[in-house]
Amino acid sequence: MFNEQHLHFFEQIKTPFYYYDLDLLKKTITAIRTESERYNYHVHYALKANTDKKILQELMLAGFGADCVSGNEVKCALNNGFANNKVVFAGVGKSDDEINFALSNDIFCFNCESIQELEVVNALAGNLNTKARIALRINPNVNANTHKYITTGLEENKFGINPYEFDTILEKLKHCPNLQLIGLHFHIGSQITDLTPFKNLCTRVNEIQAWFNQKGHHLENINVGGGLGVNYKEPDTELIPDFAAYFKIFNDFLELRPGQQVHFELGRAIVAQCGNLISKVLYIKNGINTNFAILDAGMTELIRPALYQAYHKIENLSKKNNITKVARYDVVGPICESSDCFGKAVYLPETHRGDVFVIRTAGAYGEVMTSQYNLRKKNKAVYSDELK
Ligand code: LLP
Repeated sequence: MFNEQHLHFFEQIKTPFYYYDLDLLKKTITAIRTESERYNYHVHYALKANTDKKILQELMLAGFGADCVSGNEVKCALNNGFANNKVVFAGVGKSDDEINFALSNDIFCFNCESIQELEVVNALAGNLNTKARIALRINPNVNANTHKYITTGLEENKFGINPYEFDTILEKLKHCPNLQLIGLHFHIGSQITDLTPFKNLCTRVNEIQAWFNQKGHHLENINVGGGLGVNYKEPDTELIPDFAAYFKIFNDFLELRPGQQVHFELGRAIVAQCGNLISKVLYIKNGINTNFAILDAGMTELIRPALYQAYHKIENLSKKNNITKVARYDVVGPICESSDCFGKAVYLPETHRGDVFVIRTAGAYGEVMTSQYNLRKKNKAVYSDELK
């Protein structure tokens, strides 16, 4: 994916910075639209994955809705042109201010996660003399077989309402005149590459829907969340995830009632591959059993390896065509933490100070999770349309 032209371009820019390939983003968007529109599915972009302005612009123009998890994400979606009637708002801890803001902007739906939240949204909507559309976020107890920090749909997780609470919820809703129940919401986790958990989710949704129907509730909207994973190991073999197979699973296994609308909240699968962290080697240092390649980017720019032991492919772009001599490196950052390591025992062409490194598949949960630890400053993102 990266060539000499990229190298010369990157060499002139102060590192570290995020580089976004807008052409790849556009192709990914086209693939999603082609595959989701054939079933009339609604796709909401999960803003938490990346809130870069140019990226949001493309997604908004493509007609996607917005999946938000904070009042500021709702604000960001609206400021960037997403339609208020396509904004969904989830999260276990919505504050009163956040709820009021979303109510006054008449968003499409609150995904409510607890009985107490229902009471609060009802009261706040009452104060504003309005009615909130809500979906119940249900904990489906489906194992996503992914890293434990990004599994969300198990009983032990803090997210969602458990089935044993359903009777109480329906009772409660009878006394909430300012709530309108319009759907059910699910999300089982993130970076799911085997589609079986999604099939299992469909089965659970079918059972749960049947329960609600039996109690006389017809739910217009089924929101199955996000979670489709990407190929971190070999990004170039799969720059665009297999959206055809993904949406087909839901078409094959979800039992819909007439008129029911299906919603998705995809984040990572949309933006991960179009973003890369570009960095330069500051120093090479020999260790006892290994060499260290010390980059000018660290866990402050990309925390996923330190936080989730996540793998990101690392490339030495300066030596891409010169792989006669290979050596083993621990690729680390400059931050004063031992966990500030992008990869251990990585085989790379012999590396020198000043070489340009690309850390791949960093478009999702990369730039949005940067921090100012060690008083680090952030450089501006760079885009493929600036490539000279
Ligand atoms: N909907 C809900 C309710 C969510 O909690 C999430 C992600 C999504 C949608 C979007 O999931 P995606 O399609 O991106 O998998 N920082 C972690 C990922 C955290 C995901 C949180 N929730 C990481 O870097 O892997």
